[in-house]
Amino acid sequence: MKLKAFIDVSVISVILCMIAVLRADDVTHPRHVHIAYGDEPHKMIVTWSTINYTDSNVNYGLSRDALNMVQGGSSSKFVDGGTAKRSQFIHKVDLVDLKPNTTYYYRVGSLEAKIWSSVFYFRSMPDGQDWGPSIVAYGDLGSANAQSLPRLLVDAAQGMYDAVVHVGDFAYDLSKNQGLVGDTFMQQIEPLAATLPYMTCNGNHENYYNFSNYKARFNMPNDNKRMYYSFNVGPIHFVSMSTEFMYFPNYGMKQIFDHYEFVKNDLIEANKPENRAKRPWIVTFGHRPMYCSNSDNDDCASYESLVRVGVPLYGIKGFEDLFHEQGVDVALWAHEHTYERMWPVYKLEVRNGSYEKPYTNPGAVTHIVTGTAGCIERHEYFTKNPPPWSAFHSSEYGYTRMKFANKTHLFVEQVSDDRDGMVIDRFTLVKDSHGPYKK
Ligand SMILES: *[C@@H]1O[C@H](CO)[C@@H](O)[C@H](O)[C@H]1NC(C)=O
Ligand SMILES: *[C@@H]1O[C@H](CO)[C@@H](O)[C@H](O)[C@H]1NC(C)=O
Ligand SMILES: *[C@@H]1O[C@H](CO)[C@@H](O)[C@H](O)[C@H]1NC(C)=O
Ligand SMILES: *[C@@H]1O[C@H](CO)[C@@H](O)[C@H](O)[C@H]1NC(C)=O
Ligand SMILES: *[C@@H]1O[C@H](CO)[C@@H](O)[C@H](O)[C@H]1NC(C)=O
Ligand SMILES: [Fe+2]
Repeated sequence: MKLKAFIDVSVISVILCMIAVLRADDVTHPRHVHIAYGDEPHKMIVTWSTINYTDSNVNYGLSRDALNMVQGGSSSKFVDGGTAKRSQFIHKVDLVDLKPNTTYYYRVGSLEAKIWSSVFYFRSMPDGQDWGPSIVAYGDLGSANAQSLPRLLVDAAQGMYDAVVHVGDFAYDLSKNQGLVGDTFMQQIEPLAATLPYMTCNGNHENYYNFSNYKARFNMPNDNKRMYYSFNVGPIHFVSMSTEFMYFPNYGMKQIFDHYEFVKNDLIEANKPENRAKRPWIVTFGHRPMYCSNSDNDDCASYESLVRVGVPLYGIKGFEDLFHEQGVDVALWAHEHTYERMWPVYKLEVRNGSYEKPYTNPGAVTHIVTGTAGCIERHEYFTKNPPPWSAFHSSEYGYTRMKFANKTHLFVEQVSDDRDGMVIDRFTLVKDSHGPYKK
């Protein structure tokens, strides 16, 4: 009974939310406001949606009472793939020439019609590499049962993070119910994503209608609607991957090969001595893990996951050798609704730095699965006898904090939302030098 009452209340609140979104006089009102880093530090990409067409402008400035600058952009009409063919306009404005490490206040909307959103703020990226970014990472955050979201908002309001990395699977699903679930979700994350750069990759739940809801709703740097890209934050080079191409070959084989070539060339470039000296940390994020020890039949629970080894018969390469050769420091994954930390591992073999200090100068990539932010599909569980490369795991809802102290030290901690924000796992990755691992 109690459970039923809970479900009724949540269903009602979702419906109320949708009604709010659909109010007829709101068709030109900006909604779903969110930001992303641009392709260079002095840029920020601002994205939002209106149901009817309006012009696209951001009105911004250095204080809430002095929004004395305007930057225009453009919009494109997005038609959802469902039977209702619901449409909306997704607006994009690139703010350029931002002063580094500066708080900007902004609102978005129509300059002509004078219809504006409420005022948000963000902090622009500091210049250079000698600062320590704080990143929060998670995957598998839905609209219903978005359990970690309130706690993330509290953390963010305290200025704990510079950016969010969402490792795929949104809303459950962005396309569901004629895209209305996506609309609700984009509104739910607005308080977080309008303040912190919200950096994404796609997951399997985005696949409907050829990933079109994902492609339309998020604008990422250098993405060109290919769904993979890279960007730099201080001393870190991030690579956002599209593991799903391999799992949905029905959408085309070419993009599988193009994606591999992109990641390969990007990592080779990032690993050039002059680049690695500036940005020693290389962090990848993609939805489906190479490694996991969950008790389901997911690909990562088999020893030869597609992402790890590819499909040699079809000439499709996996990413493990590439990551090892290019010395990726951390690989973030999600998909499993759990948190799992691996010992440094290559080809199923544990490569601890030493027995006492496994993460000090490790001999292989450190993999983390963080797919436990909260969604309607609930928890997942683990095999009774985890393999030797599994170091720690938890099925509790939560998210992962990464503090890059400097060029050698990275602090990682896992927050449990189920246990009121308690940190249930922490480790420090120490790299006195970064680069390819030994064969
Ligand atoms: C919104 O667009 C629809 C369809 O083009 C149109 O019928 C309606 O009048 C528009 N509403 C407003 C307020 O512009
Ligand atoms: C950014 O500015 C804040 C104060 O406004 C300061 O505490 C911080 O050290 C600055 N960060 C960098 C990297 O300069
Ligand atoms: C899916 O979209 C990609 C572009 O993002 C395109 O190259 C591919 O041909 C599309 N696949 C199908 C089946 O339409
Ligand atoms: C790696 O280090 C951890 C922590 O000391 C240890 O439990 C594990 O057995 C080590 N694995 C190997 C293969 O040495
Ligand atoms: C990097 O950060 C770690 C941890 O805070 C600290 O022990 C170390 O001295 C720092 N290294 C440099 C070069 O500042
Ligand atoms: Fe998934």
